[in-house]
Amino acid sequence: MIRGPDVSRLKCMPDIHDRLHRTFFRAVSLLSARAQGRLLHLFFQWVHQAPDPWRYETEPYEIGKYEMTLRHIPDRPYRRALDVGCSEGAFTRRLARAFPQAECLGVDVSDHAISRAAAKAAGSARFAALDFLNEDPGGMFDLVVCAEMLYYVGRGERLRLVFERFRTFMAPGGVLVLVHEWPEARRLYRHLDESPGFRKMAEHPCEHPERSYAVTVYERVEPASTGPERSRRAMGAGEGPGQAVLDERAEPGHQLIDRRGGHRLDPHDVPRHGQPQDLDGHHPRPLGGIRRVEHRRQPPGELPVDVLQEQRF
Ligand SMILES: C[S@@+](CC[C@H](N)C(=O)[O-])C[C@H]1O[C@@H](n2cnc3c(N)ncnc32)[C@H](O)[C@@H]1O
Repeated sequence: MIRGPDVSRLKCMPDIHDRLHRTFFRAVSLLSARAQGRLLHLFFQWVHQAPDPWRYETEPYEIGKYEMTLRHIPDRPYRRALDVGCSEGAFTRRLARAFPQAECLGVDVSDHAISRAAAKAAGSARFAALDFLNEDPGGMFDLVVCAEMLYYVGRGERLRLVFERFRTFMAPGGVLVLVHEWPEARRLYRHLDESPGFRKMAEHPCEHPERSYAVTVYERVEPASTGPERSRRAMGAGEGPGQAVLDERAEPGHQLIDRRGGHRLDPHDVPRHGQPQDLDGHHPRPLGGIRRVEHRRQPPGELPVDVLQEQRF
């Protein structure tokens, strides 16, 4: 039998390995999304020739990371959970045990990985071989987990495409949990942090002598309901005059001013959605614009002020 690579051994030279790794996958992401998906399929089929190439079943570091991830998933009665890039399902099985009421689906681009995942799970979770860049997992999910996978997505525009796909498969109020190397996670999630479709709920960096990582939790929000509703909540308990809250739009009845010049703006003048944009040459898709408005709580009796911090479409 041809043995696959022992990927876990590369951890002993993290700098060189990570640099080559990121450069390679960024170059692959210059292709169309379809061609990138085909190459990822070939690559991860090769990686998964031998079982458990990252030693997810046995490495104390990986097992500790799974436990930490589960600890930080908000405790809610999830109905459908998706594990994107699940490899052989070591975490998907834990997820299914932790949330027995939820239907759990693990997806991975490698069918070698998926057939082992299905055999190990023995019916406790479902699995599907698909390329998440181009193929749909089917239906909506109120919990999505994606761990150690975004490095392979490559350049920023492709990451944006993946975040847009997370949004498409998640119902408003759904929870997205990302687990990646720290502090690289900050770079990987930059576009998500700017997206009006998600709100960061919590970030838990875990310093580790072997390799630090963070568990970051986002909530899928409906841009139309993020303004007044969210800012009312955010400006409630525990916040005093002068404290600022970031949101995506001005509240009705507030003054909206430009951060640089302090000019007053008409909230209705400012568009909230961008034009459809072709991300991969095949699927024009609308992208939400980026807009950050800082709500400043004023002393009682004074008109609240909203400051436009950033706007890009
Ligand atoms: C490093 S492993 C992480 C496995 C798992 N999330 C964990 O942390 O235990 C990354 C996985 O992502 C999968 N993957 C990479 N690109 C993918 C894509 N476009 N669609 C689906 N899976 C993908 C790979 O096959 C691989 O199994």
